Amino acid sequence: RFYDIAVIEGDGIGKEVIPEGIRVLEAAARRHGFTLRQKWHDFAHCDYYARHGRMMPENWKEEIGKPAAIFFGAVGWPDIVPDHISLWGSLLQFRREYDQYVNLRPVRLMDGVPCPLSGRRPGDIDFWVVRENTEGEYSAIGGRMFEGTEREMVMQETVMTRKGVDRILKFAFDLAQTRPRKLVTSATKSNGIAITMPYWDERVEAMASSYPEVSWNKFHIDILTANFVLKPQIFDVVVGSNLFGDILSDLGPACAGTIGIAPSGNINPEGEHPSLFEPVHGSAPDIAGRNLANPIGQIWSAAMMLDHLGEKQAAADIMGAIEMVLKQPSLRTRDLGGAADTQTCGKAIADLLA
Ligand code: NAI
Ligand code: MG
Repeated sequence: RFYDIAVIEGDGIGKEVIPEGIRVLEAAARRHGFTLRQKWHDFAHCDYYARHGRMMPENWKEEIGKPAAIFFGAVGWPDIVPDHISLWGSLLQFRREYDQYVNLRPVRLMDGVPCPLSGRRPGDIDFWVVRENTEGEYSAIGGRMFEGTEREMVMQETVMTRKGVDRILKFAFDLAQTRPRKLVTSATKSNGIAITMPYWDERVEAMASSYPEVSWNKFHIDILTANFVLKPQIFDVVVGSNLFGDILSDLGPACAGTIGIAPSGNINPEGEHPSLFEPVHGSAPDIAGRNLANPIGQIWSAAMMLDHLGEKQAAADIMGAIEMVLKQPSLRTRDLGGAADTQTCGKAIADLLA
């Protein structure tokens, strides 16, 4: 079996954690008898911008071709390029052009990772956040009027389409169906946002009726965020609109410990376009170039990518290896109170797959 993978390191610690992700992917591929055909791309980073005045070549889509997935590090180097330019010129292009309408993040408390919530043990927190990634509150419809006068006003519309809402809900219910608890929690705010959010609720109810085995509930976003902190054990699959999902998908991983281990997928479930897998963290200029970064966020993203490609056992093996390494204090990186460097941690995970 062959999979074509586009590899983009990006900036900062992206250049340090991607090689560890690849090291582990190659070990998993050897073990399970498949091949990853890698095409590395030297764009979507800020040095490229410094040379060319843009983040990617005009023909970036041709350059990337039609890989099965994109394995991405992190982009951003604010000393050279303002963050909104580096992000819009690269990552957000992929999300839009490739219709990666699902943003998927696991929230799982692992043994060996200090939990910021007191009294929580590994196993207590284990759920997924599913964020709508293309429409909703993040629309381009709106504007400013009467600037600089007393009548100055701004407005920005929320756009929800039936197709857009239904497809993210379907993804969430499908995911819940694969899990033991089979529970979907929907983020809403239909008490205050009285047009779009009641519509969202209606579509949740309609989708739920096609999944008799899956139970569901809903919370207003305010109490939902409180419950992430107070009762994280009650969640299984949490689905939200673009804005609510954005907040929950940062809060969730934060509740389960360091940002250094959190992965994410930007997914086009139909496979019409490549999906992109990347750690939640950014390029971490404060520690870049010093072999200090935790590579596990990138390596866990590799496991999500293999799972997406159908290599379920290889993905599960990587997760097992991550868990083993996290249990050993001498193999943890500095953000987890250890002294291991990036490569030591990455090699230890790869060695377990040999
Ligand atoms: P950041 O995630 O890069 O760093 C936040 C803090 O977490 C820093 O103290 C950093 O040292 C630490 N950290 C992050 N990843 C770590 C790892 N693997 N191991 C150990 N410690 C780690 O976020 P920040 O500082 O807000 O942004 C830095 C740059 O990254 C900006 O240019 C920003 O735009 C970009 N960024 C890019 C993202 C992406 O490519 N998807 C996501 C978030 C930020
Ligand atoms: Mg965010």
